[in-house]
Amino acid sequence: MYILGLTTLGDAAATLISDGDVVAAVEEERFSRVKHHSGFPYRAVDYCLAEAGIGIDQIEHVSLYWKPWILGHKARQAVRSLAISPAMFAARVDRGVNQISQSYLGMLRYPRLIRERFGPSDFKFHYLEHHPCHAASAFLVSPFERSAILTMDGTGEATTTMMAVGAGTEVRPVKRIKLPHSLGQFYSAITNFLGFDMFAGDEWKVMGLAAYGKPEYSDFLSRRVLSIDGPDSFRVNVRVLDHHLAKRYRFSEEAERELGPARRPGEELTERHYNIAASAQLVLEDVVLHLLRGLHQRTGEENLCLAGGVAFNSVMNGRIIDESPFRRVFIQPVAGDAGCSLGAAYLTWHGLLGKPRRYRMRHAYFGPSFDSDACRRALQSAGLSFETLPDDEMLPRVARLIADGAIVGWFQGRAEFGPRALGNRSFLADPRRSDMRELLNQKVKLREWFRPLAPSMLEEASEEVFGRAHKDPFMITVLDVDPSQRGRLPAVVHVDGSARPQTVERDTNPRYWSLIRAFEAITGVPMVLNTSFNVQEPIVCTPEDAVRTFSNASFEALVLEDHLVLRA
Ligand SMILES: [Fe+2]
Repeated sequence: MYILGLTTLGDAAATLISDGDVVAAVEEERFSRVKHHSGFPYRAVDYCLAEAGIGIDQIEHVSLYWKPWILGHKARQAVRSLAISPAMFAARVDRGVNQISQSYLGMLRYPRLIRERFGPSDFKFHYLEHHPCHAASAFLVSPFERSAILTMDGTGEATTTMMAVGAGTEVRPVKRIKLPHSLGQFYSAITNFLGFDMFAGDEWKVMGLAAYGKPEYSDFLSRRVLSIDGPDSFRVNVRVLDHHLAKRYRFSEEAERELGPARRPGEELTERHYNIAASAQLVLEDVVLHLLRGLHQRTGEENLCLAGGVAFNSVMNGRIIDESPFRRVFIQPVAGDAGCSLGAAYLTWHGLLGKPRRYRMRHAYFGPSFDSDACRRALQSAGLSFETLPDDEMLPRVARLIADGAIVGWFQGRAEFGPRALGNRSFLADPRRSDMRELLNQKVKLREWFRPLAPSMLEEASEEVFGRAHKDPFMITVLDVDPSQRGRLPAVVHVDGSARPQTVERDTNPRYWSLIRAFEAITGVPMVLNTSFNVQEPIVCTPEDAVRTFSNASFEALVLEDHLVLRA
C-alpha cells in the first residue's frame, strides 16, 4: 500500500511510503532551486512516483501536514497586530486575507488539483494537524517502542509546542502551547534583531554567533521576553520582542534600551551582537530543559523524541543529551516542516490504519540518484575533461587530494532528505587546516566567516575523538571534543572546543566510509570536513547542478559517481 505525505507551504516536500517503508522523500527546493520553496511540491511528487515506478492511481492515501480550517494561526497574528498599531493591523489583514486565499484555504482544493495534475485516482485525502505530524516524524520512525515526545517550531495552525506520549503505533498529545508563546518565533525575533533574515532560515547564524559571545543579556531575556511559566510551560512577551515587529526593523523601546539598537542588515557585527546571540541561545536551552524536566515528570518515560524546527538547534540538542532526565534521545533529522511530509505518511499508516511498526530511520538518503552514464553526459555537455576510475583508485586519489588541501565537490548515490549533506552531496576538505573554515565559508560558499563547519567521521573513532561512544548519523548534536584532539582539528572544532559530527557507519554509506578510511590511512585523522554542496542555493540535486556549481565557484575537484574532474 502506497501513502503519499505532503508539506506544501514553506519547505514544501513529498514523502512516499510503501507498506511502512520509505520509498522516496525530497524537498521541492532541490528541483525548483529556490531555497525553502513554498507551494505545492509538484516535482517532488513526480520524483516520488517515478522512484516507485507507479502512477497516482496506485496511491491509496494522500496526507497533508496541515488542517487549513484551524485558522488560529492567521487570526491570532491579526489580533497581535491590533495590539501593535491600527495601520499595521490593516496591512496585516490585507496580506492575511490574500495569503489565506492563496494558500491555507487553497489547501481545500488539493484533492482536485492532484487529480488534475497527476491523473485520476481513488485516493483518500487526509488533513492532519501539524504538530502531531512533527511528533510522528520522530517517534514512529524511532528505535523506541515507547517515548515522550516534544515538538517545537515557529507555529503550526495555532500550536507552537506540543508534548506527547508515543506508545506502539499511537501518538497521544498531552499538552499544547499556543501562539504567541513560541520558541521558534522567539529565536526568529532575535535573528531579525541581529539583522538577519528569518525568512531565509538565518536562525543558523544566531547559533553560530552564539559561540563567540557571553550571555550577558540572558537575565533580561529570561525575565522579560521568554520566561518559564509553571512546571512545564513558558511564555513569550511579544510586547517586548516580537518577530512580526522585527520584519520592519522596529523594536520596542524596552528591547532597544536593554539590548542596544537592533543591527541593520549588513552592519558590522560586534561583541554586543555575539553576546545577544549567546544570551538568546542560553535562554532557549534553559527553557527547553525546563520543559523536558516537566515532560519527564508528567510521563515517567525514559526515551525522548524531538522534532520541529527548533530541534535543528544542535547546540541545544547537545545539552539535552547531557542534562535532560531522559536516557535515550532520537531527533528527526528532517526536524523542520519538510519532515512533516514523512510524519503525515506514518501518522496515516500507523495512526489511522493501525498497521504495526517495524521501520526505523537509519539514514536520510531518500532523494534522486543518477548513474555513471547520466553523470558522464552532464560532464561531456559542459565540455569538462574527466577520468573515470574504479573505487580502489578513486578513493585513495580523492583522499590524497583532500589531504593536500583541495576542496572536493563529492556527489554520489541518493540525495539527502533534509538540510544536512551527509556525504552524498557534500563539499569535503581537510579538517586539519586552520584556514579551511574561512576558505570554505568566504571563498567557496560566499557566506559569513562564523558559520561552523562539521566533520564526518568513522563511527568507530568516536571514543578517540570525544572520549566517549557517540552515534549520530544525522549530524544533529554538538558535543565536546576531547581536549587532546582539539589542536589537530582546527577547521571543525568550534571556539568553545565542541564539534557537530556525523558518525558514518560502514553499513549505511560504505563508499563514504571507505573514503574517510582512505583519508585516515594517509593522515591518521579518522574524519573529513563535510559541508553541504551548494553555493547560495539549495543543495545540488542533479549532476547538472553539480557541474554548474563547479563552473561558477572556486574549488579544486569534482567527483560525480566514478568520474573525477580536476580544475585545470
Ligand atoms: Fe512546523
